[in-house]
Amino acid sequence: MTPQQIDLVRSSFALVQPIAHPAAALFYNHLFEADPALRKLFRGDMAQQGERLMTMIGAAVGLLDRPATLMPVLQQLGARHGGYGVVDAHYATVGGALLLTLEQGLGEAFTPETRAAWTAMYGIVSQTMIAASKEAALAA
Ligand code: HEM
Repeated sequence: MTPQQIDLVRSSFALVQPIAHPAAALFYNHLFEADPALRKLFRGDMAQQGERLMTMIGAAVGLLDRPATLMPVLQQLGARHGGYGVVDAHYATVGGALLLTLEQGLGEAFTPETRAAWTAMYGIVSQTMIAASKEAALAA
């Protein structure tokens, strides 16, 4: 990601933060509409899960310019996701739901540049998590 893309992700995420709660609910609506079978993977309280997701995205957004700190966090997160029954293909579904949520939550602020920046960020996050979950499965 370019420094400009990191700035774009940060400034647009700051706009989402005040509406984090409804944004998280909207995200799960989109996710379960795209793949209703994913519903059964989530066992806990969905409001709490939404909070965890937004907190983790916020942490990743904050650490984008510090990959040495961010990568191990994502690797551990990815390895845990293997244990939740998450498979590679689910990451594309989650990415689609995330972009749709940002598009609706940000409206005009979701410019093509902002979309490209989030797509780049999600690509890095998901690839890192997927690779770590494969390694964890091999080590098990
Ligand atoms: C950007 C990528 C993602 C982020 C930042 C993220 C974040 C999180 C966080 C913070 C948790 C809380 C538990 C923990 O820390 O281990 C969690 C749990 C979970 N995530 Fe993700 N996640 C991502 C991708 C996915 C994908 C692709 C799926 C597939 C459907 C998924 C499904 C789940 C499930 C099933 C749980 C456990 C929920 C439960 O126990 O009820 N996540 N996720």
